[in-house]
Amino acid sequence: MPPPAPDRFYVTTPIYYVNDVPHIGHAYNTVTCDAAARWHRLLGDDVWFLTGTDEHGLKVQRAAEANGRTPKEQADITSERFKDTWRLLNVSHDDFIRTTEPRHYTSVQQFLQRVHDNGDIYLGTYEGLYCVSCEAYYNEDDLVDGNCPIHKRPVDFLSEENYFFRLSKYTQPLFDWYEANPEAVFPEGKRNEALGLIRQGLQDISISRTSITWGVPVPWDEKHVFYVWYDALINYATAVGYGDDRSRFEQWWPAVHHVIGKDIIRFHCVYWPAMLLAAGEEPPHRIGVHGFLLAGGEKISKSGLNTTQISPQDLADEVGVDAVRHHLLRNPFGPDGEFSFEGLVARYNADLANNFGNLASRVATVVGKKCGGVGPAPASDSPLADVARQVYDDTAQGWADLQPAAALDATWRLIRETNSYLEANEPWKAEPGPALDAVLGDALEALRIVAVLASPALPDACDELWRRIGLSGLPAEQRLPDAAAWGQYPGGLAVEKGEPLFPRK
Ligand code: MSP
Repeated sequence: MPPPAPDRFYVTTPIYYVNDVPHIGHAYNTVTCDAAARWHRLLGDDVWFLTGTDEHGLKVQRAAEANGRTPKEQADITSERFKDTWRLLNVSHDDFIRTTEPRHYTSVQQFLQRVHDNGDIYLGTYEGLYCVSCEAYYNEDDLVDGNCPIHKRPVDFLSEENYFFRLSKYTQPLFDWYEANPEAVFPEGKRNEALGLIRQGLQDISISRTSITWGVPVPWDEKHVFYVWYDALINYATAVGYGDDRSRFEQWWPAVHHVIGKDIIRFHCVYWPAMLLAAGEEPPHRIGVHGFLLAGGEKISKSGLNTTQISPQDLADEVGVDAVRHHLLRNPFGPDGEFSFEGLVARYNADLANNFGNLASRVATVVGKKCGGVGPAPASDSPLADVARQVYDDTAQGWADLQPAAALDATWRLIRETNSYLEANEPWKAEPGPALDAVLGDALEALRIVAVLASPALPDACDELWRRIGLSGLPAEQRLPDAAAWGQYPGGLAVEKGEPLFPRK
């Protein structure tokens, strides 16, 4: 398989169910994709960032009934809530797909018609145990005390005539794909989990329903609608032109990076690549799998009691949007992570108030007092120049690995070392002159680089810092790696102290 062009970065969140409102677990996924998309835009890559809502299926139909709405009304209202939350969190998606849009119906019908024409879909009878919350069938063995292992609620017994996808036929092609693409699914533990599912043996899967009508009709047999998951997965293809504009589709596919939670590994890392192969398309380039955010050891969820305490809006009101984003991104990608308000505030104070904010404010204060508010230029042989080089390499590696926590940790090294450099040189005690100018110029240059490197995580604060150190006259669009090269702070610019960027909490 030829590798995708290096300058194309198509990144997707899962599409969220519209049975209830967005919570911080969803924000974790979406902000991770947003920051990665912003980083790739800084690199000058061609970026397409997709998010959206998953609007069919029994779960949404039941939520609509409970709310006295039609499913479409339920979807219209809740998809707006998701859009509002992403607007609030400064999410820069290029497209928001809703699975009830006509473009998606066309694409799903074409995609699955193709699989049908290839002989990989047949009619059969399905009997099984079904969890409405997961929208998935379970085997008896999967249940915990007779309940769904994820939602811990009773499952329903269903029997119906379904169309089946010949997943079993794709066992070997999937093994071959995993072997040829050892980095496609990451981190490694999650890749092993996906391989384990394939090793357990793959049975054909039921992909249609006659018992509900809230779905995309099966084009060759309109008594059936596609089961929600098989329409949902295809959203990633729809959004880049599948079924409508083949050359656009080929521009982005398979350069796609799916970011998903660990509960949907089976669908994304087994069923989806197999469906793509069956439709004659390439499997995805990469699938990054993250753990859950937990509150008091339990998965944060819409149905759980903990939703209201941790709505993204409440958190943003408390500490600001950038601080919420930063906190989510500092959670290592892969394992589960505990989320608490106390943890958010502690990290805010440590990383943002005491480190980042403090550096910005002490530099502006000394420039104000000793240089009449005019920032000097950096020294070309500054000891911070080497640090900045290393920091850029490590930050870039962190983003390339989709490890925002590692990337930010690397960027913060420049902040810490610049703070230490100031403490060692004590410019606040020095007399005005070339030595003082060099120290302050170095610190301003470090701040300039930080304002670029940290901007995927903290877009507003970095813009504000850029403005305060007098750089508004420079193009706002910076390009990496050039923008990270040492020595570009021009000097002679007005530096403004302003209010603290991150007041202590
Ligand atoms: N609609 C499907 C996805 C279809 S993609 C073709 C779905 N929706 S969901 O709204 O239930 O979940 C969407 C994503 O949110 C999943 O990746 C899930 O792992 C993630 N999260 C939900 N709760 C979470 C946490 N508490 N923590 C982290 N992520 C969590 O599944």
